Amino acid sequence: MQMVCLTDFEEYAKEHLSKATWDYYAAGADECCTRDDNLLAYKRIRLRPRILRDVSVSDTRTTVQGTEISFPVGIAPTAFHCLAWHEGEVATARATETLNTCYITSTYSTCSVEEIVAAAPNGYRWFQLYVYRNRKLSEQMVHRVEALGYKALVLTVDVPYTGKRRNDIRNQFKLPPHLKVKNFDGVFQETAGPEEYGIPANTLDPSISWKDVYWLQSITRLPIIIKGILTKEDAELAVEHGVQGIIVSNHGGRQLDGGPASIDALPEIVDTVQGRIEVYVDGGIRTGSDVLKALALGAKCVFIGRPAVWGLAYKGEEGVREVLQILNDEFRLSMALSGCRNVAEINRNLIQFSKL
Ligand code: FNR
Repeated sequence: MQMVCLTDFEEYAKEHLSKATWDYYAAGADECCTRDDNLLAYKRIRLRPRILRDVSVSDTRTTVQGTEISFPVGIAPTAFHCLAWHEGEVATARATETLNTCYITSTYSTCSVEEIVAAAPNGYRWFQLYVYRNRKLSEQMVHRVEALGYKALVLTVDVPYTGKRRNDIRNQFKLPPHLKVKNFDGVFQETAGPEEYGIPANTLDPSISWKDVYWLQSITRLPIIIKGILTKEDAELAVEHGVQGIIVSNHGGRQLDGGPASIDALPEIVDTVQGRIEVYVDGGIRTGSDVLKALALGAKCVFIGRPAVWGLAYKGEEGVREVLQILNDEFRLSMALSGCRNVAEINRNLIQFSKL
């Protein structure tokens, strides 16, 4: 089977994964308006291509937090990779190491961070963190990933509670007994009581607030990137609190239904931040021209969630590599067709604002 675009991987995954697993990956909150709008919003944007600019040589490299990556697409944190492929996150880590891009490891991995680092010792990785009611648990995790060479902490702030995902409720979805949230082996397992997704309910702290950003800064030297900002007001607060980056994200539409498409929220945030910290975006990126549009609107880099999982479902490490390679090829082509030779040449003049 020849995979030509990311949708081919989606179709493959839908056909080959169990219904409950497929539903879990695909899920959006409530009526899935925001999930679907994440994709549609990219399709509404039109480009203003420049011509006759000698695009015989093109360079897709960029930097994030001062580190060079081969192209501006990284892997967003998604839970439970072993549901899609037996090697799970180890396969994802190897693929991203080979292609030299950034892999944000989810707290809810089904391989431990030690296994992930051992499998791809030279990979460039950030760790996604939640703040638990039990702060000690979060703190231990931070020190573990620091010691393992993770380069930044991604604090996800849009899950004070888990969004209502209808099919997961209907399927009574939870992690099958042979899989574990490996980073908390022995911790979560000993906790009795109601569960959500195989994780004890009430683990996350809904009282989390900006003061917890200061708390996090007090226990780590790693850069902190806040994931889940959608407004200029919160972007300004993030800068004022001294974090190093923002991921504009609505969690793939899995949290608040009715919130904006992430690409629609990006411009006001970029305008407010004014280059003081790096701004990234995730949600709905499926083609190379989506990547180009996000960069044109001011994102330093984009992250893909579901497409990486589809790649895993297709062929593990090789599948994730193929997904990233296809996006890279498409991005390079879109750059050339719009007259950009390198990422520094991508800017707002590429966007047809009259159409928006
Ligand atoms: C997620 N996402 C997520 N985010 C996070 O911070 N921690 C997590 O553990 C997870 N887990 C997770 C599981 C699954 C199955 C999905 C689809 C998403 C959100 C993720 O990081 C990202 O924001 C979105 O997936 C981006 O949208 P696309 O690329 O899936 O459209």
